[in-house]
Amino acid sequence: MSGFDPAWLDLREAVDHRSLAAGPLERLAAKFGDAPVSVVDLGAGSGSALRKLAPLLATVQSWTLIDSSAALLDHARSRLRDWADASDAEGDALKLRKDAATIEVRFSRADLAPAPLPPAAAAADLIVAVAFFDLAGDAWLTAFAERLTAARRTLYAPLIYDGAKRFQPPHDLDEAALAAFNAHQRSDKGLGPALGPEAGARLCELARRSGYGALEGRSPWRLGPADRALTTALVRGMASAASETAEAPDGLAAWLAFREASAAGGGEVGHVDLLLEPPGTAR
Ligand SMILES: C[S@@+](CC[C@H](N)C(=O)[O-])C[C@H]1O[C@@H](n2cnc3c(N)ncnc32)[C@H](O)[C@@H]1O
Repeated sequence: MSGFDPAWLDLREAVDHRSLAAGPLERLAAKFGDAPVSVVDLGAGSGSALRKLAPLLATVQSWTLIDSSAALLDHARSRLRDWADASDAEGDALKLRKDAATIEVRFSRADLAPAPLPPAAAAADLIVAVAFFDLAGDAWLTAFAERLTAARRTLYAPLIYDGAKRFQPPHDLDEAALAAFNAHQRSDKGLGPALGPEAGARLCELARRSGYGALEGRSPWRLGPADRALTTALVRGMASAASETAEAPDGLAAWLAFREASAAGGGEVGHVDLLLEPPGTAR
């Protein structure tokens, strides 16, 4: 299982939120904006999805945040308490008030490898998984899609990495460094050899085969001078991952030094957002 640094997730949160494609978000708000709604967030990390989506959903919400990392779930709890206007602990759960909303949050530490769709998710109105499915292998994703479609649940899955990265100003090794990084993206992250950049299209295909409606949007990170810290962390992560592969190009250290020095130039990272809806419920 791969480890995700809370500081990295904190750094990307604002960019994630501003990058989400409007179409799926508007559809979610139209679909779940009125009646009380239960949401399960798979690979929830620090609870970023709740902070983004809560204002779009009905004022009575219950969320279950599922992640394999106890440290991230602890971080999520503390981030959510800071974010809310008021919070009360009820056993292991939290009751939050934020603007007009009342939000009950449960935290569940679980490895999704052996159980792609936990019972709480199979019973939820809405399943959310942000920046998650590119970690999954084909067998796991197929098992997930079978369970999702059998349970006829709606899935919002934004920010699935699509393999594209561009930086400014360009460097001769950009393409080779990206190829090595993308090779690393296809290694096993605990859910089988990962599909990486192919995961979004594959998930869409599996859901459509079962009659699901799929609304797609693009959600590229567009990074500028103000995102220098994120760009720096991004290129460091890229170089570190690339260096672990057989494809690592000669000159990777010099590439990284150039990219760090020109981080203010920013760039773009491609993602796809998916909203998958059971037959008869999609517009
Ligand atoms: C890229 S992070 C995204 C976190 C969060 N969704 C966000 O957008 O900020 C992927 C998350 O999936 C979790 N994860 C990875 N493999 C997992 C597994 N096998 N079972 C449960 N969670 C897992 C990680 O701990 C991490 O929090």
